[in-house]
Amino acid sequence: MKILQVTDLFMSFRGLVALNGIGFSVEKGEIFGLIGTNGSGKSTFFNCVNHLYQPQRGKITYKGKHDLLSKRSHQIAKMGIARTFQNLELFHYTRVLENIMVGLHPRLDMRRYLRKFTLKALMSEWEADKNEAFKILNFLGITRFHSRLVTDLPYGLQKLIELGRALAAQPDLLLLDEPSAGMNESESKEVARLIKSIRDDFGCTILLVEHDMNLVQSICDRLCVLDSGEIVTIGRPDEIVKDPKVIRIFLGEESDA
Ligand SMILES: Nc1ncnc2c1ncn2[C@@H]1O[C@H](COP(=O)(O)OP(=O)(O)O)[C@@H](O)[C@H]1O
Ligand SMILES: [Mg+2]
Repeated sequence: MKILQVTDLFMSFRGLVALNGIGFSVEKGEIFGLIGTNGSGKSTFFNCVNHLYQPQRGKITYKGKHDLLSKRSHQIAKMGIARTFQNLELFHYTRVLENIMVGLHPRLDMRRYLRKFTLKALMSEWEADKNEAFKILNFLGITRFHSRLVTDLPYGLQKLIELGRALAAQPDLLLLDEPSAGMNESESKEVARLIKSIRDDFGCTILLVEHDMNLVQSICDRLCVLDSGEIVTIGRPDEIVKDPKVIRIFLGEESDA
């Protein structure tokens, strides 16, 4: 089953074309990687999926029936699409545990709260949310940081906390924008293991933007290579790394640096 179908998506910023009519589909249960040089349109694509950006043209269909570009971002979150951001979106002067609890929000049923509007009922909801958040911290192996302020922690750890916040929503589709940025090799390996486990154990479909080629090769089922807002190719990682067009793009970037 296709969980996401993208058709002729076009987005430009005052004449600068960020996505030039791209189209592809993602199967349920896939780990689908998006790679490409800086500025190739990867984050813009994510911003279109949860409708933070309004593309000028095209369509994004979720689970075969939901037209995402006709929905608002909070409705999209409620439909089971969660994401992390390239530049973290966390409450930096709030504790780790509360940041994870914020992620539970799309599933909160306000009517349930209002029906039981007593202090005792609210406290028990709060306790239940706290337990959920601790389960996620456990899964990520970062329980010991639960009472620390986010701002006091290193960037790589903040990335994991953001992943936890996204997971708290129990998404069906998870969009991860450079989850291993700021991490060393062993931390990146751990992130790769976690992403795989999120798919294998929770049945979550994953769209992954990532620069670390070792990481994408080791866990992605398919890769889509973007260049200047256009799709160069889509295929299995072992095919992609041998593709001369792809090699040229990445070597080109290195020689420019
Ligand atoms: N909000 C924005 N306003 C203007 N230009 C933008 C905005 N977001 C992205 N762009 C431009 O769109 C292009 C693609 O950017 P982006 O999607 O962030 O690339 P990537 O994530 O692949 O590095 C870049 O040229 C970038 O400067
Ligand atoms: Mg980006």
